[in-house]
Amino acid sequence: MAEPLRVLVVHGPNLNTLGTREPDVYGSLTVDDINEELGKVASGANAELEFFQSNHEGALIDRIQEARSWADGVLINPAGLTHTSIALRDALVATELPVVEVHLSNVHTRETFRHHSYVSGVALGVIAGFGASSYRLGLQALLESLSE
Ligand code: DQA
Repeated sequence: MAEPLRVLVVHGPNLNTLGTREPDVYGSLTVDDINEELGKVASGANAELEFFQSNHEGALIDRIQEARSWADGVLINPAGLTHTSIALRDALVATELPVVEVHLSNVHTRETFRHHSYVSGVALGVIAGFGASSYRLGLQALLESLSE
């Protein structure tokens, strides 16, 4: 069997409160539920995932920097940092890894401050608006692209 593809899955600030946070917007699944779903996709696709959630920009950047040494790609929901963080974007670029950006909600139908993403311009692709399925679709797209 070929070497497994290794993906860092990153959840940004406040995603640790999924399940109880604005469930009408973000759904009722917790971050652990989402990770479990992603794990199922990965095990059927010869992929290995490492999960990381933090509410701290610097901690997210540290983990993304480390990924350069072991990962094949990054799946990220940058959450609120999507719309504010040049530093997070710079860290993603510096990894030289393909990045897929995902959002539970369709950020383009929401407040205008959510319409701009600092990450999208350096991402392979973006999936938004499908709830937890955005992560699954994003992971599948990333793995397919890595296998090409
Ligand atoms: C989000 C959308 C962001 O605008 C928001 O700040 C989040 C979650 C989403 O998954 O829909 O925290 O990234």
